[in-house]
Amino acid sequence: MNLRQLLSHKFETAMLAAGIAADCSPLISSAKKEGFGDYQANGVMAAAKKTGRNPRQLALEIIEQLDKGDVIDRVEVAGPGFINIYLNASWLASALDTVETSVRLDVAPVKETQKIVLDYSGPNLAKAMHVGHLRTTIIGDALARMLEFQGHQVIRQNHMGDWGTQFGMLLAHFSDQLQTVTAEVALEDLEEFYRESKLRFDTEAGFADRARAYVVKLQRGDAECLRLWQQFIDISIRHNEEIYRQLKVTLKREDIYSESRYNDDLKILVEELLERGIAVEDNGAIVVFIAEMGDKKGNPSAMIIRKKDGGYLYASTDLAAIRYRVGQLQSDRIIYVVDARQSLHFQQIFAVARKAGFASANVALEHYAFGTMMGSDGKPFKTRSGDTVKLAELLAEAVTRATELVAKKNPQLDAKACSEIGRVVGIGAVKYADLSKTRTSDYMFNWESMLSFEGNTAPYLQYAYTRVRSIFRRAGIEPGSLGDAIVLDSATERALAIKLLQFAEVLDQVIKDAFPHVLCNYLYELASTYMAFYEACPVLKEDVGEAQKHSRLRLCNLVARTLSTGLDLLGIEVLEQM
Ligand code: ARG
Repeated sequence: MNLRQLLSHKFETAMLAAGIAADCSPLISSAKKEGFGDYQANGVMAAAKKTGRNPRQLALEIIEQLDKGDVIDRVEVAGPGFINIYLNASWLASALDTVETSVRLDVAPVKETQKIVLDYSGPNLAKAMHVGHLRTTIIGDALARMLEFQGHQVIRQNHMGDWGTQFGMLLAHFSDQLQTVTAEVALEDLEEFYRESKLRFDTEAGFADRARAYVVKLQRGDAECLRLWQQFIDISIRHNEEIYRQLKVTLKREDIYSESRYNDDLKILVEELLERGIAVEDNGAIVVFIAEMGDKKGNPSAMIIRKKDGGYLYASTDLAAIRYRVGQLQSDRIIYVVDARQSLHFQQIFAVARKAGFASANVALEHYAFGTMMGSDGKPFKTRSGDTVKLAELLAEAVTRATELVAKKNPQLDAKACSEIGRVVGIGAVKYADLSKTRTSDYMFNWESMLSFEGNTAPYLQYAYTRVRSIFRRAGIEPGSLGDAIVLDSATERALAIKLLQFAEVLDQVIKDAFPHVLCNYLYELASTYMAFYEACPVLKEDVGEAQKHSRLRLCNLVARTLSTGLDLLGIEVLEQM
């Protein structure tokens, strides 16, 4: 049980004893302002209204019934019927003892573990990865880490786009290039390669026909053509893996289950849907009409699953994917971390998958949408010339900028140390800037603010971590050797203790809504609470007694561990020295 659950339980019991029905929640939340207790129960007014009682009177009755145990020191009624809760300092200290001995910082694994398919990243292999793939990759990976930390079994599925008509022109151009250069050289710059192919397709006589012939050959499974395609795909995947490596993303080769893997399923899928009357022929195409998603006039929403020319679409593959993920992978839940602009697509395929029985009601289908990354002009982030920004270039720039900053801040550092710190700070800054924004909103990309050592940024948190760790180096003490008890005498020590104990409840909250920014906010608050503590409570000064020093060092160590665990769940590295 996390701290909030523990208090909720105590208040629910007291409310029942005071004659309040079980469906009234005490609405326990941590106090947002100083002077209003550590936690508050805000549900009394609603309960009073429901039962026609006087709220202040009811609050007093609930307090009367409350079993404070050793957890709560005292409670008070405030305003029209709020209850302010003050926690007991010795209980806080003993709770921290428990956190300290647990490698998981006393975060209990979930009781009911699920098999969760997590679909994220999914770049298209015809092109270089660009900024459009950053959010899905980073947010998806953070969710994977957090769900695993909770004890779930996560099956990562990288639904890469490796099929489709554009491969016709790419393969035609590729085979020409291979006459003079190696495959690696030809595909060195995928973006450029795509541009050249497209230009030839649009302007060169005969090329478009060759491209179309390649599409037919590819779809027929022509061995020579498939070999060429495979070579193209392999190199393209290697480019992506390089980005994953830099971003410290946990996606592996075996997590790739790309669009082409469903080729053989598509025909069967369409037949099955036709047979069962879920799909119908309409003007030569095969269409599913979804009545429950109709417009105001009652026209159903339509989703094409096979084109007139026999070609399949993005939607067909995604339906086949659900069928595979439930049928073969036996998942309890499928989560898609994909751009909000694809919301309608997912609503449609979820509706059809339910209708067709590919996913029964027991299997959760969830689209965790996210907003767009904007440039400073408020339009989707582009290069100055209006091109899409390649991820490789963006990350390289982040590292360069961070390295310069670190060198300026720390002129005595040698070049090697500088570049390593620059890498960790630069990559961390890009990831954190994204994760710390509300997932569902658009956000503005800004180098200055993400690389700032002040405020809610990766550099600030990474620096806070190294500062805590440096205390141990200066003291020449190992965290494991601290014998004396944690004593929470001052207000800042208490505040820090409560913050530390809230890690478990914050994680529950983060995962419930899949909002990584909630964890970011928490880590930022923790670091700020630590700074306030450090200002007010000297740790290594001469006049600090041995017992107090140990108590405070133990708090410091818990801060460091919570920061590094939290950042690790976000996929962000920390350094011992910066
Ligand atoms: N390749 C797609 C794109 O770039 C993303 C794939 C997302 N996953 C899925 N199952 N549709 O837009």
